Amino acid sequence: MILVTGATGGLGRSTVDALLKKMPAKEITALVRDSEKAADLKEKEVVVKEGDYFNYQSLLKAFEGVEKVVLISAPTFTDRITQQTNVINAAKEAGVSHVIYTGIQRKKDGSWIVPMVTESDKITEQLLIESGLNYTIVLNNVYADVIPFFIGNPAAISEVKYPSGDAKISFVAREEFAEALANLVIQNGHENKIYTLSNSEAWSFADIAEILTEISGRKIDFINVSKDQYISLKEKEGYPKPAAEFAVEWANAALAGELDEINPALEILLGRRPSSLKDFLKRYFQPEN
Ligand SMILES: NC(=O)c1ccc[n+]([C@@H]2O[C@H](COP(=O)([O-])OP(=O)(O)OC[C@H]3O[C@@H](n4cnc5c(N)ncnc54)[C@H](OP(=O)(O)O)[C@@H]3O)[C@@H](O)[C@H]2O)c1
Repeated sequence: MILVTGATGGLGRSTVDALLKKMPAKEITALVRDSEKAADLKEKEVVVKEGDYFNYQSLLKAFEGVEKVVLISAPTFTDRITQQTNVINAAKEAGVSHVIYTGIQRKKDGSWIVPMVTESDKITEQLLIESGLNYTIVLNNVYADVIPFFIGNPAAISEVKYPSGDAKISFVAREEFAEALANLVIQNGHENKIYTLSNSEAWSFADIAEILTEISGRKIDFINVSKDQYISLKEKEGYPKPAAEFAVEWANAALAGELDEINPALEILLGRRPSSLKDFLKRYFQPEN
């Protein structure tokens, strides 16, 4: 039995969907906080269990009879360390054999520190490695899906404004991370490994402006705004200051060279080259967007 946490969220749900293409639904457990949100998964005969990362007993109960747990990292701006520690300890106590943790890509010995992201990832990874459980740590690059948070709706903007200079990011569509996770979890040989998942190419925000120009047929320029200018622009758009500052953290990471790694692991797990950013961004120009 494979259990996927966060199964009502973007990455978890896509991982369950990818697993459904590869194995019987009744061998998949979706861990959710509210089973009503997973009614369609129940209809597909996925086992739906309720559990909360903050509620150790609920995790212990949900992990009964589970062989592998895919731990989708807890949301930022929450106490990720307590939550993820609970999952790892409960998995161990329940007799789970393998936990797969999804964290954020960072360079080994890099200088990028965002307490609510990198530091909680490091603590979780260390705990998992020392737990005695089989582990796989998957360090994901930035979801291409996050680009609208950084720059606005790609189909509606007339300029790309971000304080990232020439820095590049190897963006990946979230559903392709999910597909890779599903492949990883059903294959053997990934025990006690750490993978960095990134695209086969990296893009600057000037590249994004160029891609959007090509797709839209309108000239869209990149403007390398200052960090302060960017924060006030985001605040004017209605984002709270901490969210705007959080968006800047990703520019800082990119400028520090933390997010431009080209690594073959994702291509190997997918069995094909990941989608290009141009293909991903085209979806914002489809009529339903
Ligand atoms: N690499 C990147 O670019 C990137 C970008 C964004 C986030 N992330 C990280 O990747 C994770 C997954 O991303 P995502 O896009 O799938 O996030 P998401 O759509 O926000 O999904 C988060 C999931 O976690 C569940 N959850 C939240 N608190 C929980 C708790 N206390 N106990 C159990 N489940 C809980 C949510 O359940 P409910 O439906 O009940 O709320 C939801 O299913 C995020 O949590 C974050 O750590 C990475």
